[in-house]
This record gives sequence, C-alpha cells and structure tokens, in this order.
Amino acid sequence: MTSRKVLLSPIHLQDREIQAANEVMRSGRLREGAKTRELEEAFKSRTGVSHAVAASSGTAALHLAYLAMLQPGDEVLVPSFTFIATASMIVMAGGRPVFCDIEPDTWTLDPAEIEKRLTPKTKAIAGVHLFGNACDIATIQKIADKRGLGIIWDAAQALGTSYQGRDLAQYRDAVCFSFYPTKNMTTGEGGMVATNDEVMAAKIRLLKNHGHTEKYVHQIVGFNYRMSEVEAAIGKVQLSQLDSFIEKRKKLANIYIEAFRGNASFKIQSVTAGANHSYNYFSIALNTDQLSVSRDEFAKALDGEGVQNAVHYPRGLHQQPAFSGLANGVLPHAESLSGRILSLPMSPFLNEVDIRYASEKVLFLIKKFARRHVLA
Ligand SMILES: Cc1ncc(COP(=O)(O)O)c(C=O)c1O
Repeated sequence: MTSRKVLLSPIHLQDREIQAANEVMRSGRLREGAKTRELEEAFKSRTGVSHAVAASSGTAALHLAYLAMLQPGDEVLVPSFTFIATASMIVMAGGRPVFCDIEPDTWTLDPAEIEKRLTPKTKAIAGVHLFGNACDIATIQKIADKRGLGIIWDAAQALGTSYQGRDLAQYRDAVCFSFYPTKNMTTGEGGMVATNDEVMAAKIRLLKNHGHTEKYVHQIVGFNYRMSEVEAAIGKVQLSQLDSFIEKRKKLANIYIEAFRGNASFKIQSVTAGANHSYNYFSIALNTDQLSVSRDEFAKALDGEGVQNAVHYPRGLHQQPAFSGLANGVLPHAESLSGRILSLPMSPFLNEVDIRYASEKVLFLIKKFARRHVLA
C-alpha cells in the first residue's frame, strides 16, 4: 500500500470563478438571464457556431436536440459504447435507438454500421465524440447526405476538439455539450446545444423554457431546462481558460503516450484521422488474454498503488437492462472493449509527476500480471 494518491479527474475552481459566482449571488439575479446570454455569446465566439443555447445539463441538451428533430417512432443509429444519455434521450424524445458497433481502434461509431442498420424508419444518426476524440465525421456526413438523415452529435466529452481544422460545434445538425465537473470545462451542472440551423435553435429555445414566448403565454409544451446565472458566471470564466486546460491535457496525455509506446499488453485510443483530440479521458484497453488477472482485478490493484481509475463503460448500452427490449444482436467491438477498458487519471489540475507516477504503476502491474508463456 502506498500513501500517494493520484486522483482520476480532480477539479479546482480558482478565485476568478468564485468571485464571478459571488457577484451573481450578491446581485440577487439568480434565474437564467444576462450572464447566461453572455456565456452563449462567448461560446459562439469560441467555437464559431451561429447559435448556442444553454441548458441545465448535457442530458437536457441532448433531449432538446432530439425533440427538435424527431417524430415519434423515428429510429436513430447510436453507438452502443457511450454514456447512457446519448441513447436514453432518444427514447425520452419518442424515438427508438438502434445500437451500432464501434471501430476497434478509435472507439467511435463505425460508419459501416450505419448502412448495415438502416431501415425505412431511420431518421438520424447520433455520433459520439468519445473521450475527446472525434468521430469519422466526413464519412458519417457523406452517408447522412446520401440517405437524407439528420445528425445529432454528442460532444459532451469533447469541447475544444477540432476536426479537419474546424471546431466540432460547427458540424450539422446540432452538437450537444456537457459542463459536468469531469468535462473539459465545468459549470457544476450544465450543457449547451450548438447549431447553425436557425429554426432548430428557435425550437430548442422554446422547448427549454415551457414554450414561453411572453409572460404566461406558451406556444408549445416544454420543460424547465434553463441554466442558472451562478452556473453561467462560472462557465464564462472556465471557457476563457479552455485553451490552457486543453493544452495541459495534451501535455499530460503525451507523457502517457511516450511511456506506453510499444507495449503490447494494452492499447490506447487511436486518434481519428483529421481529429485534434482534447483528452477528456485517457483510457487504455488491456489485452486481458496476456494478463493473469481480469480488468477489474487490475483496476483494484492500480487503485491499491495509489492511482485512482474508473471504467467507462463496463457494458455496451445494448447490454443494459434499461434497453433489454431493443437489443439487436452481438456488437463484438463494444462488448470486447467494455471488458478491457480502463480510464487513468487526467485533469488540467494534475501535474507531470502525477502522470509519470500513474504510468509507472500501470507498467509495473502489467509486468507483475503478465501471463508467463511456457516455452515448448
Ligand atoms: C457522452 C456523454 N453524453 C452525455 C452526457 C450527459 O451529460 P450531463 O452529465 O451533463 O447530463 C455525458 C456526461 O456524463 C457524457 O459523457
């Protein structure tokens, strides 16, 4: 046992965020208003998108985007290897998720799966920019264009990632972000829908605030998915630091990459061609057939060495009880990865010594648990 502890994703709000939150609290103007508009404007300038609509969470952002696109019974192609909200919000919007497998190296939606699982009811594709990597956007868009499909991107983990030189927020039709504390920037809880589609943006604005157009006049039924002004104030300060947060994440990721180079006992996520990965998570996939322990035993041993870790995600969504009625066969890559994946410490509030320590412990345990091959 060790006394050192490297946390998985620590976050420290600085004096600037605390001061910004304090100012709002002192003003007494707490409900969504001017600060949230300022955050949306700053988000538009930062990402280059035409419309940004703040929401109370990334889950709410997805719900709103799906509601703005789907009709009841529409099918949406979604990767099985993601956080539940990508698919659960399709259901909550009246649609039906159709689970697809992922690419074995980038761990994102396999475009070949789209053509395979199309039906006359397919309305849209939900691509997930997993762990800060980007999907193969070019191929997915080409298929969507050919088949007349909409696209909702789940970029909860990928604020600040770019693809072919453009911010992910600029891609059609709508891109959903989360500001949960482990994300590339935080507001505590919060989210954003980015879109270049004016009609969609207007619909999302209506839906997020009870279809409200003037006091107690409701054009449609909707929700309270508003952001609070304290959250927006924190978010504005966080957004102004996004570049330095991501620079730090990349620097730390490079330490892992260098340390792990050439090790055949596990793989790291391949960066999609054209993507500039923002390393929201740094995860490895263990080659468990080369180890004498399971992933879960390895994870426990790593924690015992002072390196906090987590499993994102222990099963594909098609294997979740909540979706038992929607299972559509074996998805080999999602199933294999969910048994081997392990997320290592990553945060702009960790330092190079932390990451060197974490990588050394991973390599130490890989060696310790290496399956010994008996030579014939
Ligand atoms: C891929 C993905 N989608 C959606 C969400 C939902 O975001 P939130 O937790 O802000 O509701 C998350 C965050 O956990 C996520 O990682």
